[in-house]
Amino acid sequence: MTTVRIAPSILAADFARLGEQIRDADAAGADYIHIDVMDGCFVPNITMGPMVVETARRVTQLPLDVHLMIVEPEKHVETFARAGADIISVHVETCPHLHRVVQQIRDAGARPSVVLNPHTPAVMIEEILPFVDMVLVMTVNPGFGGQTFIPQTLSKVRAIRDMIAQRGLAVDVEVDGGIDEGTAAQVVAHGASVLVAGTAVFGHPDGVRAGMAALRAALA
Ligand code: DX5
Ligand code: ZN
Repeated sequence: MTTVRIAPSILAADFARLGEQIRDADAAGADYIHIDVMDGCFVPNITMGPMVVETARRVTQLPLDVHLMIVEPEKHVETFARAGADIISVHVETCPHLHRVVQQIRDAGARPSVVLNPHTPAVMIEEILPFVDMVLVMTVNPGFGGQTFIPQTLSKVRAIRDMIAQRGLAVDVEVDGGIDEGTAAQVVAHGASVLVAGTAVFGHPDGVRAGMAALRAALA
């Protein structure tokens, strides 16, 4: 089995020193930097846009994992790719023409990923699997950091991992929301290969390095 990757979410970072926080995560062994884009429409919160992706691009070589929680993401795919996004995730709930958007992400030079809200069934991504590099399973309702992990999403992580294996595909399964020392091992046991963690990394009382180390220790 390949090593589990950790994608710290800068939503929980101190934005007064964002560059430094990203460098700290990089130095502490982060595999990706997760960037949560929210529009106040698809989700009840407004966060950051392409400027923040550009900022992150200037301070790290790590892949930038951009999670678009926005309506009509097809209007912004090229902008985010140009800003430096390596992976672009779009919600199936926002894309009536999901296959077209996935293709658009690839054409823009990024790796396409599709996201499912907690209530959206695994079957919704069955037909798109051969076209994507990653499936992101929301383990909380998108919109805010620091929420409690929904344990019922574990069976969906397993179902998607099985679907991928049955088809002989090389697709990552990422989980996002409430991932910490207590939940990390469980999601991995159910088939997750990439873990997003905001609060557990940037909100750790002893700092980013300690947060990363605690997650790695929980997985060991
Ligand atoms: C939630 C975001 C998450 C969030 C996770 O809508 O997609 O990426 O930053 O935060 P934690 O790890 O604190 O649950
Ligand atoms: Zn996210």
